[in-house]
Amino acid sequence: MKALDLLLNRHSCARLAAPAPEGAELETIWNAGLRAPDHGGLSPWRFIHVSGEGLSKLAGIFEQAALAEEGDAEKAKTMPFRAPLITIVIASPKTHSKVPEIEQVLSAGCAVHAMQMAAYAQGYNGIWRTGPMAYSSIVNHELGLAEHESIVGFLYLGSPQTKVAKPRELPFKDYVTWL
Ligand SMILES: Cc1cc2nc3c(=O)[nH]c(=O)nc-3n(C[C@H](O)[C@H](O)[C@H](O)COP(=O)(O)O)c2cc1C
Repeated sequence: MKALDLLLNRHSCARLAAPAPEGAELETIWNAGLRAPDHGGLSPWRFIHVSGEGLSKLAGIFEQAALAEEGDAEKAKTMPFRAPLITIVIASPKTHSKVPEIEQVLSAGCAVHAMQMAAYAQGYNGIWRTGPMAYSSIVNHELGLAEHESIVGFLYLGSPQTKVAKPRELPFKDYVTWL
């Protein structure tokens, strides 16, 4: 796949099923995430891989969080099963005199995007999700996040089950100005 085709035609898919990337393909996806632009070379991210039994564990955590935080527990416990694999991307900012935290969180976001594209380039797809579970202190605690860390996304990955329509085309003139 040509790089520009990937950049211009990448799209998300919410309906995902097995097979999920594994082995060398999955390592390529993680390595793509680790190539995110990174001011100061701080590696301000880490990933939690969730598949198989891990999906059930995550479902239990989501249910627990929803019960405690007045969410929809019945729905929450089904959410992890929307894909055979989830990579949870965590921003793990470091204290640095020249690199503010926002830049490090942006870097973690770039990692999500890079991993989705690496999956897409290998014939898989996925969707970047957040929602209340990404901002729950209970989920953070159960996943072992430190106080300074945050979830930037749950990247659901697998084989697309629907053909996605051509991505919308935004006229660049509406978004680009000239100085
Ligand atoms: C930070 C972030 C959080 C998102 N959270 C959700 C989400 O919780 N649920 C959802 O359906 N889409 C979410 N999205 C949007 C999808 O990932 C996706 O971009 C959107 O469905 C548009 O599809 P496209 O990527 O094909 O343009 C999120 C996107 C970003 C950047």
